[in-house]
Amino acid sequence: MRRKVIAGNWKMNMLPNEAIEYIDKLAPLVKDTKNEVILCVPYTDLFYALLTAQNTNIKIGAQNMHFAEKGAYTGEVSAKMLKSINVEYVIIGHSERRQYFNETDETVNKKIKSAFENGLKPIVCVGETLEERESGKTESIITKQTELALDGLTNEQVENTIIAYEPIWAIGTGKTATSEDANNSIKAIRNKIEKLYGKDVAEKVIIQYGGSVKSKNAKELFSMSDIDGGLVGGASLDPEEFSKIVNFE
Ligand code: 13P
Repeated sequence: MRRKVIAGNWKMNMLPNEAIEYIDKLAPLVKDTKNEVILCVPYTDLFYALLTAQNTNIKIGAQNMHFAEKGAYTGEVSAKMLKSINVEYVIIGHSERRQYFNETDETVNKKIKSAFENGLKPIVCVGETLEERESGKTESIITKQTELALDGLTNEQVENTIIAYEPIWAIGTGKTATSEDANNSIKAIRNKIEKLYGKDVAEKVIIQYGGSVKSKNAKELFSMSDIDGGLVGGASLDPEEFSKIVNFE
């Protein structure tokens, strides 16, 4: 049985004092869960979040990184830098980065490799636009994104990659994929991984759903056969609401 992994993506929200207050509120609410709990916070919150989450079961992630280890890349942060302060996870290839910051399948692949080389665990986002969905391309788009993201990784690295299937039309819109649709898309991703890396690997990979996950729909989504938890945006900004998603059972 795969574990469930519930990750919050705060996006560009929360100041350090708010992050500290939030984690102090969340920690007692999720302390008894058997699910994995991750908060992916802005760079400026990382250090405070890591300190506040010490001695809790909350793990901390970043929302992006550069693929180079160091160098003349003004404004960027490397995997090595994140690891140096004990960050554990990093979101790579979120659709907002693909859309607004020229993230490509190629940079996503380079970033995943650099994340592993530096001991970070990547949460890799894939997902189709509304136009792609309406023209029947969902499966081909998300399986191709997955293939390119994972290209050149070892089986062990693939096993340790978390994939977040986030249909772009469902992000921040209040529209969720139906649980059957989300499960079918995630199955398609898992089948692709099976073709490329074998059944053993495919059965171990955690594949989350993301896009308007709330406490009201978490149970239905996360109870599906292939949905191994969620990547939660808006609803992760309130610790009580997020704790209900974590404790969805
Ligand atoms: P919402 O939960 O706000 O739709 O955002 C989803 C998302 O983009 C998480 O990475």
